[in-house]
Amino acid sequence: MTDVSISRLCKTYPGQGTPASDDVSLDIADGEFLVLLGPSGCGKTTLMRMVAGLELADSGRVIVGGRDITYLPPRERNLSMVFQSYAVFPHRTVADNIAFGLRMRGVDREVVARKVAWAADLLQLGPYLQRYPAQLSGGQRQRVAVARAIVVDADLLLMDEPLSNLDALLRLSFRAELKKLVSEIGTTTLYVTHDQVEALSLGDRVAVMRDGRIIQCDQPMTVYDDPATEFVGSFLGSPPMNFLSGRVHGSNGSTQVDLGGLHLPAPSRLASYAGREVRLGVRPETIAVSREGDPGASPSTVSVFEPLGSAVLITAELAGQELKVAAPASFRASPGERLWLTLAPERMRWYDPETGSALELAP
Ligand SMILES: Nc1ncnc2c1ncn2[C@@H]1O[C@H](COP(=O)(O)OP(=O)(O)OP(=O)(O)O)[C@@H](O)[C@H]1O
Ligand SMILES: [Mg+2]
Repeated sequence: MTDVSISRLCKTYPGQGTPASDDVSLDIADGEFLVLLGPSGCGKTTLMRMVAGLELADSGRVIVGGRDITYLPPRERNLSMVFQSYAVFPHRTVADNIAFGLRMRGVDREVVARKVAWAADLLQLGPYLQRYPAQLSGGQRQRVAVARAIVVDADLLLMDEPLSNLDALLRLSFRAELKKLVSEIGTTTLYVTHDQVEALSLGDRVAVMRDGRIIQCDQPMTVYDDPATEFVGSFLGSPPMNFLSGRVHGSNGSTQVDLGGLHLPAPSRLASYAGREVRLGVRPETIAVSREGDPGASPSTVSVFEPLGSAVLITAELAGQELKVAAPASFRASPGERLWLTLAPERMRWYDPETGSALELAP
C-alpha cells in the first residue's frame, strides 16, 4: 500500500514575501494518478521537491505508505522522480542511464536487461540505446529520464512536466502511452503539469493550484464541469468558461437572472440570492446556437467567427457582454450577423463576484 498523505505543508523561500507552498494538504490513494495543475510559479515544483526530499518544508507532514518521510533524506524515500529539466547523465549511454536506478538497487543483471528493453521499447528509444545524451534531441532525452524513472519499483513516482520538451505530435502519442503505462505499472503517481488538456487526460484526479494553494481537487470532469472558483473555470478549457455579470430576481416563485436587461430563467435554488449580483459561468460548448428565434433563445450579435477545424468558435455579444460559443464545424456565421443563443439552465454555474467562489446552493 502506497497511499500518500500530505498535510499542511508550508514553505517560504528565504527572502520571498509570499509562501511557495501555503498550507497544502493532499491525499493520494494507493495506485492513484494525481495531477497537480496550475500556472507557472504557483508552487507545483516546490510541492513535489518537498515530497522528494530535495526541499525542506517549514512545517507540515508527508506520509508515504504509513511512513513519515518529512525529514528523511531523498535516498531513503524509495521515490522515483522525473525532473522538469530532464536530468540524465551525460557520460552514460541511454541504456546505462535507464539501468542506473536498477543497478543502484542491486537488481539482477538479467532483470536489468529485460526492464531496460521493455522501457526502451515503450518509449521508442530502442534505436538509441548505445548513444550518449548529447547525441539525442531534447524530447529523446526527456524520454530517457522517464524510462529511468519507471523501471525501478518505487513506492511513488514523481513526474514534473515530463512531456514539456516534446513536440505536439509526439506529446500526444506519448500522453496516450503514458496513460496506458501508468495503469499497467499501477505505481502511485504525482504528476505536475501546467497543461490543462494533459491534466484532464491523465489524472484520476486533478488538483488545481494557485498561489501556493490547492483550490480544488477532484475527478477531471468534475473539476471541468463544476469549477470551484472562476479561476478554475478559466484555467481549464480552451476556450475557457464564459463569465457574465447579472443580478438575481425572484418573484411569484420564479427566479431569474438579469444580465443587463436580458432576463434568463435561473434555478429556484438561486432564490436566496435575490437582489444580489452574481456571476454566471457557462462553458462555450454548452451553448446552443441557431439562426431562428427558438422559444427561450436570446438574440446576440456575432463579432468574430473562427473556424478551428473540428469546431467553429463564435465570439458574440449578448446583452452587452461578450461570450464565446463553440458550434459544430459545419456552422457558418459572419461578423454583424444576428444569432440566437440558448443557455441550458442545468449547465449554468454561479459565482460570487467578490470572492470568485462558487455559490453554495441548496440541492
Ligand atoms: N530556490 C528558490 N528560491 C527562491 N524562490 C523560489 C525558488 N524556487 C522557486 N521559487 C519561487 O517559488 C514560487 C513557486 O515556484 P515553483 O518552481 O514551485 O513553481 P511552479 O508551479 O513549478 O512553476 P513552473 O510551472 O514555472 O515550473 C515561485 O514564485 C518561484 O519564484
Ligand atoms: Mg515547476
